[in-house]
This record gives sequence, structure tokens and C-alpha cells, in this order.
Amino acid sequence: LAVIDKQQDLQGKCVLISAGSTVEPLDPVRYLSNNSTGKMGFSIAQAAQQRGAEVILVAGPNHLALPTGVNYQPVKTAQQMEQKMLEFYPQADFVIMAAAVADFRPMRTAEQKIKKTGLDQLTLELVRNPDILLELGNRKQQQLLVGFAAETQQLLANATAKMQRKKVDLLVANDVSRADVGFGTSQNEVVFLRPQADPQLVSKRSKSAIADKIFDLLLDLDHQRRK
Ligand code: CTP
Ligand code: CA
Repeated sequence: LAVIDKQQDLQGKCVLISAGSTVEPLDPVRYLSNNSTGKMGFSIAQAAQQRGAEVILVAGPNHLALPTGVNYQPVKTAQQMEQKMLEFYPQADFVIMAAAVADFRPMRTAEQKIKKTGLDQLTLELVRNPDILLELGNRKQQQLLVGFAAETQQLLANATAKMQRKKVDLLVANDVSRADVGFGTSQNEVVFLRPQADPQLVSKRSKSAIADKIFDLLLDLDHQRRK
């Protein structure tokens, strides 16, 4: 019975997840993007669906198999992702920003393919994209909000600053300089950071096991709140 309960312990919850990278077009055939493949976010969506949640998955372009039974919302740019996240935010209980959102986009998108003729150098002008997680943190009502931090140095210090700035209930800190975990791999090793709690190392394991840990913690926080 305990096993059955565990499997459906997200029943009645609406879980909103972002996954993958965003792509920011330079011209009709070129774009700026990053190394995220979407695996972590898709694993989170699958775990939530298997545990009985209603799942909305907002994802940048990816090559992954669609998890069954989720409301899939494909997007390309950070601005499209922002719009979808804000649209579904009011109805969500748990919100997880696993996407690697491009911090900048080209100031202009050329209507035609950029030609190299006569150019020895090309300088791109970029503008800041909206910080979606920061906006969600500022609009938080009933939601429990989870962010990720991708760091290549000073993991704890950088991630702690992000946790505070973005008003998240849980920040999952990732060392993306490692080759064996993180971007593109099926495993991850992360540190869970919460306001007013000690950092918790979640040792190397599958992304779906990390996803389950995230939901175990969110359910705990949710129950504590209701007491
Ligand atoms: N994030 C977001 N919108 C952005 C950039 C990031 O919602 N424009 C979210 C990511 O989905 C992640 C968290 O913010 O959950 C942290 O992303 P990260 O790239 O690690 O941090 P940044 O705040 O963008 O700072 P920096 O890249 O300069 O370290
Ligand atoms: Ca960033």
C-alpha cells in the first residue's frame, strides 16, 4: 500500500515545468543557444506524471521523446517561454524552471540570411532577455517555486545568491563544468539549497531519481505549510 500511495502522491497537484534551451534567432537560418538538451526537465515531467500530477511542460526545441500524458507546450525563444510560463502560472501548485534560458538575444533578427560579402568581422548586438524565474518569484502566491543554477565556479556562493534574488523555495545547483553529470548526460549530482536550511548534497544518480527527490521535498514543504 505504501508503494501505491507513493506512486500517486502528486494527485490533485498541477505541476508546471520548463525544460531545454531557448533559441534566439539571428536570421532565418541561424540562432544563439546553449548546451541544454532538456533531459532534466523531461525527467521531472515524467516523474510528476507518474506520481499522478497534472503536468504542463513548456520546452524549447529538443530531440527527446515526449512523456505521455503531459500538456506539452513547445516554444523557441525566451520571450515565448516567458509568455507560456506566465499563462499557466496562476493554476500551478509546483513550478520548476529547469530550462536553460538564453540570457541575451540578438537586438535585431535579420529578415534575410546575413551575407558575409565585404565583411571581415561581424559584431553582434545583444539585449537582455527577461528573467522568467525572477518574475515568477515576484508574483508568487500559492506556488512552491524551484529554480536551477548552472555554475562553472563557486557553486555554493553563486547559487545561494540566485536562490535569494529569485525568491525560490528550492534551488537545485548544478556544476556544469563536469563532463560526467549535467548537460546532455543521463545523470546528475546537485546541491539542494533552501532558505534557512543547510545545503544538501544529492550524490550522483539518474535524472529521474533527482526528479523524485525534488518532489519528495516539495511535498514535505507543502505538508509543513498546511499544518
Ligand atoms: N532563468 C530564467 N530566465 C532567464 C535566465 C535564467 O528563468 N532569463 C532561470 C533558469 O531557468 C534557472 C535559474 O534562472 O532556473 C538560474 O539560471 P542561471 O542561468 O543559472 O542563472 P542566471 O540568473 O541567468 O545568472 P548567470 O547565468 O549570469 O549565472
Ligand atoms: Ca543564465
